[in-house]
Amino acid sequence: MALSINQQAEKLVVPGIRQFSNQLVDYPEAVNLTIGQPDFPTPESVKRAGVKAIESNQTGYSHNAGLLELRQAASRFFLDTYGFRYDPETEIVITNGASEALDSVFRTILSDGDEVILTAPIYTAYESNIELCGAKVVYLDTSDTDFLPSPERLENMITPRTKAVLLNYPSNPTGVTIPPQLMDQLVEVLEKHDIFIVSDEIYSENTFAGQHMSFAAYHQLRDRFFLVHGLSKSHSMTGWRIGFLLGPAQWMKHVLKVHLYNSICASLPSQYAGIEALDNCRDVPAAMNKEYIRRRDFVYRRLTEMGLDAVKPNGAFYIFPSIEKFGIPSFEFCTRLLKEAGVAAVPGSAFTDYGEGFIRISYAYSMDILEEGMNRLEKFIESLSGSPMGNR
Ligand SMILES: Cc1ncc(COP(=O)(O)O)c(C=O)c1O
Repeated sequence: MALSINQQAEKLVVPGIRQFSNQLVDYPEAVNLTIGQPDFPTPESVKRAGVKAIESNQTGYSHNAGLLELRQAASRFFLDTYGFRYDPETEIVITNGASEALDSVFRTILSDGDEVILTAPIYTAYESNIELCGAKVVYLDTSDTDFLPSPERLENMITPRTKAVLLNYPSNPTGVTIPPQLMDQLVEVLEKHDIFIVSDEIYSENTFAGQHMSFAAYHQLRDRFFLVHGLSKSHSMTGWRIGFLLGPAQWMKHVLKVHLYNSICASLPSQYAGIEALDNCRDVPAAMNKEYIRRRDFVYRRLTEMGLDAVKPNGAFYIFPSIEKFGIPSFEFCTRLLKEAGVAAVPGSAFTDYGEGFIRISYAYSMDILEEGMNRLEKFIESLSGSPMGNR
């Protein structure tokens, strides 16, 4: 009998972003604006906390839910920063990055045939995690509403098969944040239906206008609400793999089993580094944001001057301009941009079909790199338009 593997695994495709960045090796001189991680080093004291943990032989397993000390630090952080309380003993699990938090929560709540509503364009790892559970993704188009989800559309999409809604604000790939009034309206819809809400707020510390508001602040949703978070973006710790999953005790006890059978616990030295990040480095994201805002303003201005329309992002470190007017599919646009002008940006189609007609530019790069990237992009656009700034 021929060997076969899990059909859902077989169906998974290499992420569009990876398919595109695989081409980059052939263009070593290209200005790469594709990377989704901060270009700042991990804070010194956080690195020292990790080193100290290793040197003092804190290199074994921890409690499956993570060190209680780290869970307490996380609980304090969310209480002090956003005013909501999660019990470190029963409502918080430390995961291997937000990625594992997402995987564990989906595998806990989803069964064959369930549907999950996702706003789109969106980070594509969700879809794969959801489909591996035998569940189906249903996309709520935001490409014609400035990347903000319409409450009416959400309401119309909820059916008896809907098991969960996933929200990701600030958003990857668009950088948009969600205004409080719209949050209220979405919550009004969600309140009426017995479904889970998973909110990936990994970019919450990278909010540029006002304070981030979390969906966790809505008490009426709390008994079926999961908050996904982590230190990858806020403290430039992508390689340390520390994430947080917060949710109601009645469901978290099941999530904990899924998590522990998958990975036992998060890396212990990284957990010690995480305590330092949460307790003593709370102002680090603000310092990074100062720089991101400068870069965002620069990139936004240059794109606008080139005649590219973009929603001005208020969070994360991405901008998602439209390239629709050139009539070229985004994968082809980005491939030509790379080959002809030496700039790498991610095709919008890497973020679902609803991202077609856009490209994602990361500004987690120095001003020098961004300036060179924008100069090259401008020349490329001129070559497409046939004349300098011809499409303005
Ligand atoms: C929206 C979003 N969620 C989750 C992740 C994964 O984060 P982590 O490194 O904590 O696994 C990313 C990484 O780019 C992301 O953009």
